[in-house]
Amino acid sequence: MQKPWEGRFREKTDELVEEFTQSVSFDQRLALQDIRQNLAHLKALRMAGIVSEEEEKLLRKGLEEIEQELKENRMEFSKAWEDVHMNIERRLIEKVGEVGGKIHTARSRNDQVVTDERLFIKEELLKILEGLRELRRTLVLLADRTVDVIVVSYTHLQRAQPIRLAHYFLAYREALLVDAMRFAHAYRLADSLPLGSGASAGVDFPIDRFFLARELGFRSLTRNSLYAVAERDFILEVLYACAVCGMHLSRLSEDLILWSSEEFGFVSLPDRFCTGSSIMPQKKNPDVLELIRGKTGRLYGNLFALLTVLKGLPYAYNRDLQEDKEPLFDSLDTLKSILVVLKPLLEGLSINSEKTYSSAGNFALATDLANYLVLKGMPFRQAHKVVGSLVAQLLEKGKSLEEVSLEELKAFSELFEEDALSLLKPEKVADRRKSYGGTAKEQVLLQLEVAKREEGL
Ligand code: ARG
Repeated sequence: MQKPWEGRFREKTDELVEEFTQSVSFDQRLALQDIRQNLAHLKALRMAGIVSEEEEKLLRKGLEEIEQELKENRMEFSKAWEDVHMNIERRLIEKVGEVGGKIHTARSRNDQVVTDERLFIKEELLKILEGLRELRRTLVLLADRTVDVIVVSYTHLQRAQPIRLAHYFLAYREALLVDAMRFAHAYRLADSLPLGSGASAGVDFPIDRFFLARELGFRSLTRNSLYAVAERDFILEVLYACAVCGMHLSRLSEDLILWSSEEFGFVSLPDRFCTGSSIMPQKKNPDVLELIRGKTGRLYGNLFALLTVLKGLPYAYNRDLQEDKEPLFDSLDTLKSILVVLKPLLEGLSINSEKTYSSAGNFALATDLANYLVLKGMPFRQAHKVVGSLVAQLLEKGKSLEEVSLEELKAFSELFEEDALSLLKPEKVADRRKSYGGTAKEQVLLQLEVAKREEGL
């Protein structure tokens, strides 16, 4: 096949080179965006007097036919035409004749490719934002069910303090809300039109870039043609947002993997979201959660792959930039698949509230016993030491904090009275944490209310 650049060349491109440099096998995903862009560009060419009214009609018809072929999966892509842009241009020329070649006036694949990518990212991020919202709603509904379920919180994976389980689910809901802000920011950065930047220096035909921005629904325009074609920072932003969101969901998965183990037994996962062992008959494995954790590695890898591609690239365009697409597609697809599978898994979670309750007693109440002494006037540092020695002694005796008698307490401090014993209940202790954002029932209910309103529940 002839190349658009054949005039300059004395030799046919080696097949190895065609195979090595092609991107159409993956960038054909941008075909519909490329058609949209072509249609807008055609209008701009008409306005600039580069194509006549008849030519515009003819080319538009050709592009619309290609769009139809794409939608019906009839378009054939050829690696000899390297990428999606040249394949579409070639198909247009096949359809309308040499006049089709006018479409590539006042543009370059360098500004085309980023325009397609920005259009694509905007569409995809709307899907991700919707998926995130769905997941947040699921977490809020779980919180709604678990306000009265008490569990221990962990620090250093050691039992720390009693909390309401709803408080835990609302914590991840907050993380996902911040993720949404990150994606909204990535959307905003992508929402800037590069078309009309040409290969590097801008274009010499009177192309109205402001018209193009309106036509393609971009909120702003890139301001410098070199920046426009050289940068992939807007893709990094997407990859970073995906990596952070994956990290959150990986941590949630890790918690649930632990909590569903026999050792914890706090939750059990729906059978239909688990898999078995080919050898051990007793096994029910949390593979979905493990894969969410594992796939987060790819999300990090994609971010680092592109950062590494970009480092050291001279301004402006270099072919290395073609390596931006696979990480982008992979991160978006991976995250979308995680969001889709995690929601029904969470909905099917069953909670063993006796197990969670028993985790929250005993020494998880120790902070509050120290605080009791503080309320009686003892400096906190001293109270910490008193209760610490009590804990050490109980550990030696193999006794729990709830079994302690008033005399035993008094042996450590005269300040202890009867009400110290009645304090030693996980839910009481939880409800003392009334600080804004704390785990007291009134605070959890307040946050639940806000969350429901924000999620339209
Ligand atoms: N397929 C190319 C890419 O993804 C499009 C731009 C090619 N430009 C060029 N001058 N070779 O980056």
